[in-house]
Amino acid sequence: MATTQKKDLVAVVLAAGQGTRMKSSVPKVLHKLYDRPMLQYCIEALRPLRPAVVSVVVGHGKQVIEEVFGHDKTLTLAHQAEQKGTAHALMAGLKAIKVPTLSTVLVVNGDTPLITPETLKQFVSMHRRNKNAVSVLSFEAHDPTGYGRITRSEKGAPLAIVEEKDASDEQRAICEVNSGVYCIEAHALSLLDEIKVNPLKGEYYLTDLVAIALRRVGRVGVYCLGEEGEFLGVNSREDLAQAHEAMKLRTITTLMNEGVTFLDPYSTHVSPDVHIGQDTVIYPNVFIHGESYIGKGCTIMPNTRIFESEIRDAVLIKDSCVIEGALIESGAQVGPFAHIRPESRICAEARIGNFVELKKSTIGRGTKAMHLSYIGDAIVGEGANIGAGTITCNYDGLNKHKTHIGDEVFIGSDTQLVAPVKVGAGAYVGAGSTITKDVPPDALALSRTKQSVIEGWAKKKKAKK
Ligand code: UD1
Ligand code: CA
Repeated sequence: MATTQKKDLVAVVLAAGQGTRMKSSVPKVLHKLYDRPMLQYCIEALRPLRPAVVSVVVGHGKQVIEEVFGHDKTLTLAHQAEQKGTAHALMAGLKAIKVPTLSTVLVVNGDTPLITPETLKQFVSMHRRNKNAVSVLSFEAHDPTGYGRITRSEKGAPLAIVEEKDASDEQRAICEVNSGVYCIEAHALSLLDEIKVNPLKGEYYLTDLVAIALRRVGRVGVYCLGEEGEFLGVNSREDLAQAHEAMKLRTITTLMNEGVTFLDPYSTHVSPDVHIGQDTVIYPNVFIHGESYIGKGCTIMPNTRIFESEIRDAVLIKDSCVIEGALIESGAQVGPFAHIRPESRICAEARIGNFVELKKSTIGRGTKAMHLSYIGDAIVGEGANIGAGTITCNYDGLNKHKTHIGDEVFIGSDTQLVAPVKVGAGAYVGAGSTITKDVPPDALALSRTKQSVIEGWAKKKKAKK
């Protein structure tokens, strides 16, 4: 006999609505929190519960949603051709999959991206422990506006969910609201057929299932779990901003508890995919997102954005840098005002200064490029010095070419290196040179016109006046 623990869990995510209140041509559930669509957060929160199937109900913007989620073989995309309400959506979601007779169906709205696996797990186990036919996850809202209110008897037994539009003034004052998360036993799914169209909105409300199940089978539980912040339903741009704020504060609080200093958590953005090591100090207005890794003991000064990058230990990033898809090794220093573009690697102890742009380049250990340079498609060895205003001319209008700069090379200021070109280890390039041919190791290359001096010229000119 199957025990309650071994019962299958079938998950259905409702994501077919248009999201009219977003005022957008993008389907609501594709609106992003940091780099991922909100729907993805809901799906990720379900994964630790190991559902046998995850059916995602799509309708509005189906094609674009399929482009984003279609490749994921762990999901079944169910189609709700017309958006006739949440009950109608659930039925569409169930139609697309096989629901085992002894399973529990867990329903989640696709617009609640902050929900956590821990709360979902607790909810499913309470539903099963109490052998309910239907359970609802509720929460206490500071401002219940827009949510379905949970009505209860004098003794506290749940009676129904009343939507805002249908609620009396008295019911509107209730702060316990529906999160949009439900558990329904497979044997109770037939009750969905009894839901009637709501006369005010012309939709089939899944919330009506509560009163129907109470009337027909009893065994309905409403559990107030988790924190309010988890259940924020994103319906408008204002909600989206709130969700960002909540998500970032959750991430930053966790990181502070792990030993990271934030001078101003409120102006700093860190997405949930970011790891930061102990004793790193983050100044105000820093934005770190994508799968980024920051090591221990780093300092990141104000107005810097870091995306999809790995920054190892004890790195100093000065003010106003943009770092994307890069690797910065221990003890290196970058900025202020540096632009480190994808596939750049800055080796240990190297220093990149102000107004330096790096692209697809490696800067060797201890090498310095301190001022006003463009270094693209280049490999620079160890202990080299790249003078102010050095430019790798990597593009001939058609193709990109490589520049190789050996160990201990000295490139004088205002040098152009016309790629493909190599400067051998230990060589010097005189300031103001345009280097078009390879420079052998330990040589001096110089390509500038000889300076001429006309003695007394300026004095004579002034005397004429
Ligand atoms: C819903 C609940 C409300 C609850 C709130 C929690 C209903 C009637 N109301 O309200 O009690 O407090 O969520 O956030 O269920 N969807 C479809 N197809 C449809 C309609 C909606 O897939 O035909 C999807 C939407 O994409 C969305 C979810 O269902 O992800 C909820 O729909 P939404 O319109 O946002 O419902 P709320 O008004 O927020
Ligand atoms: Ca909603």
